[in-house]
Amino acid sequence: MASGAYGDASQKIDYVFKVVLIGDSAVGKSQILSRFARNEFSLDSKATIGVEFQTRTLVIQHKSVKAQIWDTAGQERYRAVTSAYYRGAMGAMLVYDITKRQTFDHIPRWLEELRAHADKSIVIILIGNKSDLEDQRAVPTEDAKEFAQKEELFFLETSALGATNVEEAFMTVLSEIFNIVTKKTLAAGEDRGSDNSSSLAGKKIIIPGPAQIIPERNRMCCRSS
Ligand code: GTP
Ligand code: MG
Repeated sequence: MASGAYGDASQKIDYVFKVVLIGDSAVGKSQILSRFARNEFSLDSKATIGVEFQTRTLVIQHKSVKAQIWDTAGQERYRAVTSAYYRGAMGAMLVYDITKRQTFDHIPRWLEELRAHADKSIVIILIGNKSDLEDQRAVPTEDAKEFAQKEELFFLETSALGATNVEEAFMTVLSEIFNIVTKKTLAAGEDRGSDNSSSLAGKKIIIPGPAQIIPERNRMCCRSS
């Protein structure tokens, strides 16, 4: 079977990373996911009810990484229990709609919820979606950039419709998680000394719990290195 960009069920998996999508209803969370997981887009997307997830396996630094992306309803009445949704999440995509100011104004609330329920070291990206609707823009890029800097979040504007920056947004989060996890694994190896090094050399699938990947300080932000 050919191994295409959208994965191959038979390949071996080195890491599984859970990433959650959050943000107001109709900002495009489900379509961003659909673009990433299946390279599909629908204009008559229905509001999500409860929780769904999709996966896509990709390669980061010669390791195969299964991205497990969770999507929930922006509408309060359809949302599933939050703590379960955030459990084990290593990345979060905080989405607003660049044509709806209110969806951006609600971002601090989403961030609060995230910080209350998710692991402290979670990697967060702020996403301004629907960048194809430039003529209806209600949120200047600069405002969002400034907010992201202040809150130490990554930031990108995307279009699920135009397939602009969707791949980049996911890669930003997944690569950062990858760096955190592999650094932590290395550090663990060093701590244990050379005796145990053979156990780290293998092909084990390690799905670190949140506690295992907490770096000394919160390093979710925007270092350019
Ligand atoms: P909930 O499930 O209710 O939380 O909403 P959601 O955030 O999942 O929104 P969804 O993905 O269902 O998209 C809402 C509407 O916006 C749909 O009509 C989509 O087709 C449209 N949409 C999503 N992304 C884009 C985009 O990048 N550009 C444009 N023009 N429309 C988009
Ligand atoms: Mg949805």
